[in-house]
Amino acid sequence: MTAALVPFSPDARFALSRIESPTDDFASDVRAGLTATPKSLPPRWFYDDLGSTLFDAICFLPEYYVTRAETEVLTSFRNEIAVSFGPQVRLVELGSGMARKTRILLDVLAARQGDIEYVPVDVDAAILERSGHDLLSEYPALHIRALCSDFSRPSIPLSAFAPSRARTIVLFLGSTIGNLDPDAAIAMLRDLRSALRPNDALFLGADLRKDRATLEAAYDDPLGVTASFNLNLLQRINRELGGHFELASFKHRAFYDEVRGRIEMHLVSRRAQRVRIDALDIEIAFADGETIHTENSYKHDEATLRTLARESGFTITNTWTDAQRRFADVLMIAS
Ligand code: AVJ
Repeated sequence: MTAALVPFSPDARFALSRIESPTDDFASDVRAGLTATPKSLPPRWFYDDLGSTLFDAICFLPEYYVTRAETEVLTSFRNEIAVSFGPQVRLVELGSGMARKTRILLDVLAARQGDIEYVPVDVDAAILERSGHDLLSEYPALHIRALCSDFSRPSIPLSAFAPSRARTIVLFLGSTIGNLDPDAAIAMLRDLRSALRPNDALFLGADLRKDRATLEAAYDDPLGVTASFNLNLLQRINRELGGHFELASFKHRAFYDEVRGRIEMHLVSRRAQRVRIDALDIEIAFADGETIHTENSYKHDEATLRTLARESGFTITNTWTDAQRRFADVLMIAS
């Protein structure tokens, strides 16, 4: 179902619609995740107002190289990237957030083509309004059709707007794909592929495998911002579902699993305890040291990226990395 939050009018430069999807239910996810063994919660629920702000702060941490490495890739190769996109494109962005890195591409694209249609898709409506408003004043040729939606099945939001003559380029930056297990990542890209035409393309940002110390520091910073980002999930359960979590009774843990090539984040119970959640009418028992698995962040290499593309109906035509080969952006063409 689609609901217009900021209505569409043909000459308006900004429209915002909400597209409901079956995966939108925080209460059900909390119930299912906390009554399962082992306990887990989906990372998409990190991003309420405070969570988005904390993630934004993470991007400024000296240890969180991810954002800076991708910014370096986009800045160094923006002209080549724009050429690879072609002369007339429409940009869709999955998980657009503050769209800070997007501006590097918008700068060159705006110089190359007249009007640009930009379709940011994010689960956070407030951030779509805020960043949309800023972008409109910075880019006079921009038209924004913002979609507030989960993007685990991109064909759902993508079917909400008309096909365009311009080539559709889907941006999926920041290694957000890393949250998905390999099978889920392939399923998501296949679904995306089904909503694209041949020769449309995906521009995908992926964090690369590297030494454990660098990876673990990026997800367990000494300032404790990532710990706060993780613990905010419990705060959100307290706030929105009448939970009774004592935040001081849980601690943040992050480690690299080299075999699976992924960072795991957990919330560890510091003692045996029972926690009531009023809105769900349940009480959850935790053993001392028991964890809630809150996030995976997969790290890639050439082989995993090639497999991902091949299994989902895309062909990689370009790969750009930063000088230290920490991060890659790849262009995958819909075959
Ligand atoms: C937004 C999923 C790319 O995995 O690096 C950052 C989220 N979690 N620090 C990542 C995150 C902890 C981030 N992604």
